[in-house]
Amino acid sequence: MNDKVIHIPVLLDEVIKALSLTKDEVYVDATFGLGGYTKAILKNKKCKVVAIDRDPNAKVFADNLQENYADRFYFKMGKFSELGNFLNELKIYEVAGVVFDLGVSSAQLDVQSRGFSLKLDGPLDMRMSSEGPTADEFLDKVEENTLANIIYELGDEVYSRRIAKNIIHQRSINKIKTTGQLADIVRNAIPKKKSKIDLATKTFQAIRIYLNDEVKELEEGLIAAEKVLRPEGRLAVVSFHSIEDKIVKNFFNKCVRNRPSSRHLPELPKKDPSLEIITKKPILPSAQEIYINKRSRSAKLRIAKRTHFSSTFGEIA
Ligand SMILES: C[S@@+](CC[C@H](N)C(=O)[O-])C[C@H]1O[C@@H](n2cnc3c(N)ncnc32)[C@H](O)[C@@H]1O
Repeated sequence: MNDKVIHIPVLLDEVIKALSLTKDEVYVDATFGLGGYTKAILKNKKCKVVAIDRDPNAKVFADNLQENYADRFYFKMGKFSELGNFLNELKIYEVAGVVFDLGVSSAQLDVQSRGFSLKLDGPLDMRMSSEGPTADEFLDKVEENTLANIIYELGDEVYSRRIAKNIIHQRSINKIKTTGQLADIVRNAIPKKKSKIDLATKTFQAIRIYLNDEVKELEEGLIAAEKVLRPEGRLAVVSFHSIEDKIVKNFFNKCVRNRPSSRHLPELPKKDPSLEIITKKPILPSAQEIYINKRSRSAKLRIAKRTHFSSTFGEIA
């Protein structure tokens, strides 16, 4: 693990403000990463933080924090969809805030061996945890039509069919083993055009979301968060692309209006709103933040407050 990796937390001041921190209460940092948010929360108020990350490498950063905040900081390696169970293990049944900072961290993106980056030529891995098939194993077996659908749906890529066709063709000549190989195959399948972003970006995003089951994770993570929030507790979510943002927006609306918003979410009888939306429009980074940290440019922060009514999804198991 490279300790020298730097991750600049996105929309940090806005997230801290959104959580409305109070002393002694518990906050969940569902996407610990390099601990940028957790550190700021712990410094800001004498509260407790339960931090979660599915990436085993995040533990290195958690161990550093543990030394300074032994009695106020708990780290759990795992998926945030299971946050309810993790809190139960700690005998915590109610929290004052939950924050999600979605996607990948610099410790994942900027480390060649993790295979997320289309700029660094590394092995095609793309797994946030060390479980499940790697991207090269997946691309070695997937059917063309399935791949095209994944790239279209999770990457919003209009050239999905051409890209999938080229990937399947190229793999029959040579195994696709590196991010550099894949990026070139994708770029060569798309008509050349002037674009601010690399032409392979959307395809990489789609494969990463698919391999890490990010849509289901987010939907289940949000449900788990809503269930553990105390009345007036805050839910803050930073997303980085339209697929994530749409899920968050629909989720908030569902909790307010109780209308079905996703085929993955359970249908429930209509009842009083469990969330109050604080951000009618998402909060975006300032021009200055984008100048300092280019990665913040697509970030969107949505905030909601738990109401006094019962959970939209039933009580904690
Ligand atoms: C953008 S980074 C968070 C950075 C963090 N806020 C900071 O300031 O250092 C996202 C992190 O969330 C983790 N992650 C993404 N999906 C997850 C999930 N379903 N369960 C647990 N961790 C997840 C990733 O492994 C990554 O470390």
